[in-house]
This record gives sequence, C-alpha cells and structure tokens, in this order.
Amino acid sequence: MLAQEKYVSKLRGHRVLIFGGSSGVGLAVAEGVIEFGGHAIISSSQQSRVDQAVERLKSRYPNAKSSVAGSACNLLSPNLENSLHELFKKHGKVDHIIFTAGDSLYLPSIQDWSLDAIIDAGRVRFFAPLIVTKVGSQYLNPGPRSSITFTGAALTQKPRPGWAVTTAYASAMHGLVKALAIDLKPARVNVVDPFATRTEMWGDKTEAELEEIGKDIAKDTLTGIFAYAEDVAEAYLYTMKDANVTGTVIGTNSGWPLASRSAE
Ligand SMILES: NC(=O)c1ccc[n+]([C@@H]2O[C@H](COP(=O)([O-])OP(=O)(O)OC[C@H]3O[C@@H](n4cnc5c(N)ncnc54)[C@H](OP(=O)(O)O)[C@@H]3O)[C@@H](O)[C@H]2O)c1
Repeated sequence: MLAQEKYVSKLRGHRVLIFGGSSGVGLAVAEGVIEFGGHAIISSSQQSRVDQAVERLKSRYPNAKSSVAGSACNLLSPNLENSLHELFKKHGKVDHIIFTAGDSLYLPSIQDWSLDAIIDAGRVRFFAPLIVTKVGSQYLNPGPRSSITFTGAALTQKPRPGWAVTTAYASAMHGLVKALAIDLKPARVNVVDPFATRTEMWGDKTEAELEEIGKDIAKDTLTGIFAYAEDVAEAYLYTMKDANVTGTVIGTNSGWPLASRSAE
C-alpha cells in the first residue's frame, strides 16, 4: 500500500447493504465494494439467488470471503417494515445503503391503466425505497460519510412512448432524494439514473442475443456501447465515496439523452 494512499481507501471497512445485490448492477456494486476493501451485504427476494451471488463473490474474491454476506428480504412483503428490521438486526449497522432492486416493468397503454396496477408498479421501485429509508436510517452510522443511493432511469430525461408510469416513478426519485438529503442530513441521499445496461433484467439471453440487442441500443447512444454493469456500478461507488455529494441525480447513460439514432 502506498503511504500517501487516500482515494482507494475511502470504502475500506465500510459496510454496504445492497437491495437488488443478487444480480446486475447491484452485484457489480458488491464487487466494487469488495475490491475497495469494504463489506458487501446483498439482499433480494429469493434466498437461493442471494446464496448463489454470495458464492459467486466468494469464489471471485477468495481472500475476502469474510467481507461478503447476504439475506433475502422480499420488498413486496406485506410486513415489509418487520422484514427490514430483521434484515438490519441480523447484519448490523451499515455505512451505506444501495437500492438497485427492480421487478418486471409495467408498460400498458393508457386505456389499460388501473389504479391498482399503477400502485403495484411502484411497490418495489418507489414505495419500498421509502420504507427502506424509514427503517434503514435507524441502522445507518451517523455522519456525512454515510449514504443512501437509489436507482431511477435515464428515461426521466427523454420519455419513451408507453413508459409513462415507469417514468413518473423514476422521476419522483429526483424530488425524493432532494427532500431526504435535508431530512437525513448530514447523511447523504442520491439517485443514479442508468440507461440500458446488459444485466439479467433483459431476461435469459445468450451472449449472441445480447450482442444483437446491444447493436440496436448502441445506435441510440453517443458512445456506441451497450453499457456494462461494472461501468454503471461506478456511479454508486462514487456516491458512496464523495462525502460532498447529496440530493443529486447522477446520470450514467452512454449519452443517450443527447443522441439521435444513427443512420441505418
Ligand atoms: N438494466 C437496464 O437496462 C436498466 C436501465 C435503466 C434502469 N435500470 C434500473 O436499474 C435497476 C437495476 O437493474 P438491473 O439491470 O441490475 O436488474 P436485475 O439484474 O434484474 O436486478 C434486479 C434485482 O432486484 C431484485 N428484486 C426484484 N424483485 C425484488 C423484490 N420483490 N424484493 C427484493 N428484491 C427484488 C432481483 O433479485 P430477485 O429476483 O432475487 O428478487 C435482483 O437482485 C432497476 O431498478 C432497473 O429498473 C436498469
């Protein structure tokens, strides 16, 4: 270790609870936390998926086996507050909470909207973060080095036809983090808005199928790439490490909001 090292040590020993950590962006954040010397505690709705992800992390980082743990917590549970207290009591106080959990998307045409379905569409992505904040803030170590980071979506900047409900909930996160940054100060609260990223969210696809999807997506971006989870994860690692960033929306979107589709 370099004597003057001050950047790569910012997460050393930090405890990070990741909702949605069993796959995709959340799992990539867990990898980053471990590489920076922190402790990753991952959670999702299914214990088998959590166990698989924990094993994957332990085999990837054999020298950091004690830095990985995980437990299931279904964010759709009718007793969510109790489940969250159990989760935090089991794993103890944390320095950061990362929220990347997301269930399947609800994309009906306007005439097919119903109030119940609209509310259901927000349960994991909008209502659960509020309850996670209520409970999780009781287990967050005090001070400006601690943080909560939620997930929105780049489409808040350029809505697509048929995505109104999803866009509304993702946009609400922008106001929420500003308000919570005030309510929870000096702890910090931010949101990351990703664009299309190659994760399990795209379903059970082969590499070849993902490549084909990626080629189409890349035409809508400035960088010409279909993002990798390990790049998007940088945004969450940043919000944890920069003790100045709070009430902020961080975009990681391949330039999609600025791009117009390239010629076929
Ligand atoms: N990938 C993209 O292209 C993209 C683009 C823009 C925004 N986003 C947003 O970024 C976030 C992360 O996406 P991702 O690509 O990493 O998706 P992902 O790989 O599908 O991961 C979603 C995570 O959420 C968990 N989850 C789902 N339902 C849950 C529930 N009821 N309770 C607890 N955990 C639950 C899943 O685990 P279990 O199934 O085990 O519960 C999984 O760990 C999502 O909010 C997504 O909408 C993604």
